Amino acid sequence: MIAYNGRVRAMPRLSPRLHAVARLLPTCVRAADIGTDHALLPTWLVCSGRVERAIAADIANGPLTRAQATVERFDVGGEVELRQANGLLALQPGEVECVAIAGMGPGRMIEILTGAPEVVARLDAMVLQPNHGGEQLRRHLVANGWNLSDEQLVEDRGHFYTAMQWRKGSSSAHVSWRREDWLFGPWVVAHGGEVLRRLLGHESARASRDLARKPLGSADWSSLRSHVNWLAQLQQRLFPPV
Ligand SMILES: C[S@@+](CC[C@H](N)C(=O)[O-])C[C@H]1O[C@@H](n2cnc3c(N)ncnc32)[C@H](O)[C@@H]1O
Repeated sequence: MIAYNGRVRAMPRLSPRLHAVARLLPTCVRAADIGTDHALLPTWLVCSGRVERAIAADIANGPLTRAQATVERFDVGGEVELRQANGLLALQPGEVECVAIAGMGPGRMIEILTGAPEVVARLDAMVLQPNHGGEQLRRHLVANGWNLSDEQLVEDRGHFYTAMQWRKGSSSAHVSWRREDWLFGPWVVAHGGEVLRRLLGHESARASRDLARKPLGSADWSSLRSHVNWLAQLQQRLFPPV
């Protein structure tokens, strides 16, 4: 429950993953959630007063039925508008300042972004939370002039997720990207703390298991072996044994 503009409103409960996305979305007048599914995120955003109005868009019928149920349950029909469309084609250019896209693969997110350049050009900020493949997404956005202004790594039901806040602008806080910055995110590397330590342990164990399955001495084996060594060195550097 939250008191907002004199009203006490019930709030949907967000998972740690979606909560990270919500926290990183800048306060704005109008926002859109693309691939909204249950519409929990836009409902939370309007109930909390973080945004005044939200567009909750999805390509499929089933998710929009779930979204409608959430909108009715939390009585936000006047503030959350549901739309059925492919990606950012749900929006007119300039219709919203901020967009969230969460819970998809990086390839689909890049398709959505490149599929509506005139909408993307008018955005102030985006929060993206890919289910994997952060490096691919970071490289795409940096190459397209976006500035990675914040990130948060969360562990949610045994999986690691990174939510990224991107803002327009040519000046990037991170001019020299190291391998670990592309892979895990510069903000995560700088501030990831205990969750980053667990993520690196998880990645190291996975890479070592993959290495054990490769034919010894093959080209794949050599490159994976150097990745395993690099991860071990990174762990030592970021989390030196006490
Ligand atoms: C795994 S759900 C994620 C839901 C929510 N964003 C979250 O993070 O919990 C992915 C949603 O994206 C929708 N989706 C996939 N491709 C899409 C596209 N091109 N345009 C709009 N929605 C899409 C799917 O229908 C599905 O509802």
